[in-house]
Amino acid sequence: MEAAGRREQARDEARGELAHAQAGRVPEHAQAEQVRGDILVVEDTPASLQLLSKLLTDAGYRVREAPNGELALWSAQAQAPELVLLDIRMPGIDGYEVCSRLKTMPGLDDVPVIFLSAHSDTDDKLRGFQVGGVDFISKPFQFEEVNARVMAHLKIRRLQRQLAAQNEQLQRESRQRLAEIAHMNRNASASVYCAALVHELNQPLAAIMSNAEAAELFMQMTPPALADVEEILGDIKRDDRRASELIQRMRELLRKSDPVAQRLDLNEAMDQVAALLGSEARTRRVQLRTEPAPAPLMVAADPVQLQQILINLVLNGMDAMGAAPQAIGSDGAAARPRQITLCTRRRDDAMAELRVSDRGCGLGANQERLFESFFTTKPHGMGLGLSIAAAIVQAHGGRIWAENNPGGGATVAFALPLHRSAGEAA
Ligand SMILES: Nc1ncnc2c1ncn2[C@@H]1O[C@H](COP(=O)(O)OP(=O)(O)OP(=O)(O)O)[C@@H](O)[C@H]1O
Ligand SMILES: [Mg+2]
Repeated sequence: MEAAGRREQARDEARGELAHAQAGRVPEHAQAEQVRGDILVVEDTPASLQLLSKLLTDAGYRVREAPNGELALWSAQAQAPELVLLDIRMPGIDGYEVCSRLKTMPGLDDVPVIFLSAHSDTDDKLRGFQVGGVDFISKPFQFEEVNARVMAHLKIRRLQRQLAAQNEQLQRESRQRLAEIAHMNRNASASVYCAALVHELNQPLAAIMSNAEAAELFMQMTPPALADVEEILGDIKRDDRRASELIQRMRELLRKSDPVAQRLDLNEAMDQVAALLGSEARTRRVQLRTEPAPAPLMVAADPVQLQQILINLVLNGMDAMGAAPQAIGSDGAAARPRQITLCTRRRDDAMAELRVSDRGCGLGANQERLFESFFTTKPHGMGLGLSIAAAIVQAHGGRIWAENNPGGGATVAFALPLHRSAGEAA
């Protein structure tokens, strides 16, 4: 992996530099590039403070001085230094305390702290590392050593920051790519879904037309049958609302919007998808069944993303049965009808589970790779359905898995945390 390689290389460089510095030498290229950094020196002996400050300034660093712990914390908070040289024994707050407080302050927790100490027994050092220090310099010090350690830690910190920034950039890019791919896949599944919605639209439209025709007849009567017309107008309004709902669903499906989780019933989501994939199932001669859990299964999920998962799983099931001829039993009837079952249940671990089982070809040797992006065994597959489903399930704090059914075919299932509203009993 490229990013991992870069990280490893940077770590090696930093290690090399540290080894160099600890051997008391300043690496040549560091000398050349004139490392300058913003250093906070905390020391209660005025003479030492001045001396160290002057030497560091002469070496090209920007130096801030603090004669005690309180001022050091105040100064660091006002403007974060790149490194802190910190005396341990000071009146008031001692160096250990200053360091531990720095480590809890936002923006200061990753500033390297090097302790300066006249006591250099192991316990002192251990305590220094425990409170978050990165290094120790014993007093009286050689300035070359101070310079070398300061330079090494500045360099390490800069590399770390660079890596963090690169990492963040990579993560941003990969999130963006996933969103784009997910949208592509959504469009693909949406086209199936939209075809079904368009088909559904015919129903209210046809009903509206025949109701309107009936109303015309009632109006032609003498006297006009106004009560019947009124009833018919109610029906027309209901069918019109149904049609707008369908159009609204299509819009939602095709819109490229950020996912928004809402509290919804997994049983209902399952029924909706099953109803809308009904015509696709009939075309493919597949029987689509649902077995909902007896009570509602409330989860917090983005409804469109949830539909996307379900569409992908059901379409995969249909594909898996695509090639399978219908088995005929000895009595001439279909022994194992081409069937997909969607079933939900409440699990003991406070999760809601939804399983999509088919009677297709089964997972074969592919079980390990199903959720990999771009893994496909289909001539026109993109190999994205399951990896996107997995990404969505994970983003919802759930998990997804696939297994073969004992009697043949496969089941792909996922579980999402149950969502309880305030006051609801466990
Ligand atoms: N129910 C299933 N039964 C058998 N194999 C399956 C099943 N679901 C998925 N697979 C296998 O996993 C592969 C990956 O599935 P996935 O949905 O990620 O991609 P795809 O269906 O090939 O393409 P698309 O991106 O169009 O969904 C499939 O190509 C298929 O080999
Ligand atoms: Mg698929």
